[in-house]
Amino acid sequence: MNADAKKKAAALAALEYVEDGMTVGVGTGTTVNHFIAALKDRRNRIAGAVSSSEASSRLLREAGVEVRSLNDTGDLALYVDGADESTRHLALIKGGGGALTREKIVAAASRRFVCIVDESKVVDVLGRFPLPVEVIPMARSLVARKLAAMGGRPVLRQGFKTDNGNEILDVHNLRITDPAALEAEIGLLVGVVEVGLFARRGADVLLVAGDSGVQALKR
Ligand code: 5RP
Repeated sequence: MNADAKKKAAALAALEYVEDGMTVGVGTGTTVNHFIAALKDRRNRIAGAVSSSEASSRLLREAGVEVRSLNDTGDLALYVDGADESTRHLALIKGGGGALTREKIVAAASRRFVCIVDESKVVDVLGRFPLPVEVIPMARSLVARKLAAMGGRPVLRQGFKTDNGNEILDVHNLRITDPAALEAEIGLLVGVVEVGLFARRGADVLLVAGDSGVQALKR
C-alpha cells in the first residue's frame, strides 16, 4: 500500500466515530481530504462540520456538508484531523499545512480528538519534522531569536500567510523530549499566536494505517 492509500484507510476508519446528528470538527491536510470525501455520503445524516481552515471549508461545501461556526455550535463531540508526527502517547506535531491555530481551537472545543495518520508519522521522539510556530508578522525576528536561544533553527515559511494573516516559523533541530513543557514555553513567547505541539491537549485516539490494516492507539 502506498502512503496515500494508507492515509485513506486511516480516514475511512475514522467514520466509525461519526454519529448521526453530529456536528463534526474537521481538520486540514491530505489525510483529512479523504475523510471529507467520505463524509459526502453522510452529509444528510450529520448536522454539519466546524472546519479548521478555508481549504477544508471549501472542500466540505463542495461535498454538500454545511460549514458551521464554532461560536454557534458550542463544544463538539468529535474532531478528526491528521498530524505530521505522533508519539505512541498521542502527543503531536501539527501545522505542516499551516492551519495549527484553528486546529488547536477546534481540538480544544472537542470532547474526542481522533487523529488519522499513516504509520510513517509515528515516532519515538517528536522533532524530526520541523515544528511550526505561527507568529504575528512584526514579531517574527523577535520570536526567531528566542527560538534559536532554545536550541532550534527557525526558518520562515516563504511566501506563506496563514488563514489568520500571520506567518509561520518552521523550527528545525529540536529533539522534543517533554512536549507539554515545550508547548507551554513557546506558547508564552510574546508574538507567538500558537505552536504546533499538541501535547497538553493531544489526540484521544490515534488511527495508524499500515500494510496490515488500521490500528487504534488510545490515550
Ligand atoms: C495541517 C496539519 C495536518 O494535519 C498535517 O500537516 C498532516 O497533513 P497531511 O495529512 O497532508 O500529511 O496539521 O496544518
